[in-house]
Amino acid sequence: MTNSPQHRTPLKSGAGLDCTTVGDVMMDVILRSRRSIFDSLNFEGTNYFREFRITPGGSGNLSAAVACLGGEAGLVGRAGKDPFGKAYDDDLVSLGVRSEISLDPKQPTGLAVCLVDGRGRRTMFVSRGANDNLTAQEVLEGLRRLGPSRFTCLSGYSLAFPGHKKTLLRAATNAQDHGSLVVFDPGAANLVRAQSTVFASIVNECDLLCANIEETRALARGSQVLPYSRMLSRKGKLVLVKMGSQGCLLVEEGVAKKVPGVRARAVDTTGAGDAFLGALLYCLSRGYSTSISASFANWFASRLIEDLGPRSFPARPEINSSLAMFSGKSNSVYSLRTRT
Ligand SMILES: Nc1ncnc2c1ncn2[C@@H]1O[C@H](COP(=O)(O)OP(=O)(O)OP(=O)(O)O)[C@@H](O)[C@H]1O
Ligand SMILES: [Mg+2]
Repeated sequence: MTNSPQHRTPLKSGAGLDCTTVGDVMMDVILRSRRSIFDSLNFEGTNYFREFRITPGGSGNLSAAVACLGGEAGLVGRAGKDPFGKAYDDDLVSLGVRSEISLDPKQPTGLAVCLVDGRGRRTMFVSRGANDNLTAQEVLEGLRRLGPSRFTCLSGYSLAFPGHKKTLLRAATNAQDHGSLVVFDPGAANLVRAQSTVFASIVNECDLLCANIEETRALARGSQVLPYSRMLSRKGKLVLVKMGSQGCLLVEEGVAKKVPGVRARAVDTTGAGDAFLGALLYCLSRGYSTSISASFANWFASRLIEDLGPRSFPARPEINSSLAMFSGKSNSVYSLRTRT
């Protein structure tokens, strides 16, 4: 939290961050049950569900994934001055993430109630709370305090509040001015459809677009996913289209390559996209090729969904052997360009 700097984990001297995220501070309440229970919720009586988890979620999932892999991550956001805001910040700090979370005296910490069915699919009820009071000034100050970062990640979920368009664009310009690559995850297809020109303006500014297939369709506005992704990649952007159990599409310099998914027993897909992006950015910032990075990201996300919650990451020994396996297999030498 910005008013308690003693909490911060110092960076190794001279090092920059791998990944800084500007985004939403959300506590997740995840309820898992049979779909029929959710479909027939009874407002008169009491409804019962099978399992639940209360956990920090939101944009911190991405920072947590990078930190879990051994990378250096930072987060700029706003929480309520309440026990959830404190728990969220404490959790990030315990993971070694540099937290620049400011506290709002009036609005509560954002809350997402995630309903997960028996097949691991989920929907969310969200109240954004303090997130909507994050100002451009706070974002710029937070980014300055965090210092250089290889990637600066922006989330389309922030655009649920229209005032945040300017904030994200300013964060993108700031990142570019400091040699950081701008990463954009649109977050949800319905948000893209509701504000297509706003989303197009952020896509235009980004260096790496990581969107799921529905979001990509919505961004393409009538074009097909493949030609649209190729068109963006010819402008120098790296494009990743996430396709659930099918893995992802990696599109660079006009060429699209399908990177197959890893078979998983899906319990809860909440946070799959964040885990995917965290693993991808960690690998890219450590110099792995885009193809190895995408393969590893598919694996990392597939392991996450086998348990409840957005931060049920695999353990370190399993991570290390998987990374060694993927990097031993490929001989691709492409590495992401740096901004000059
Ligand atoms: N059922 C699954 N089996 C295996 N891997 C999966 C499955 N679902 C998701 N993944 C992995 O997670 C990645 C991201 O999932 P998805 O395509 O659903 O993105 P998303 O919609 O952004 O996720 P989120 O729901 O977290 O926003 C996929 O590209 C894939 O690597
Ligand atoms: Mg997503």
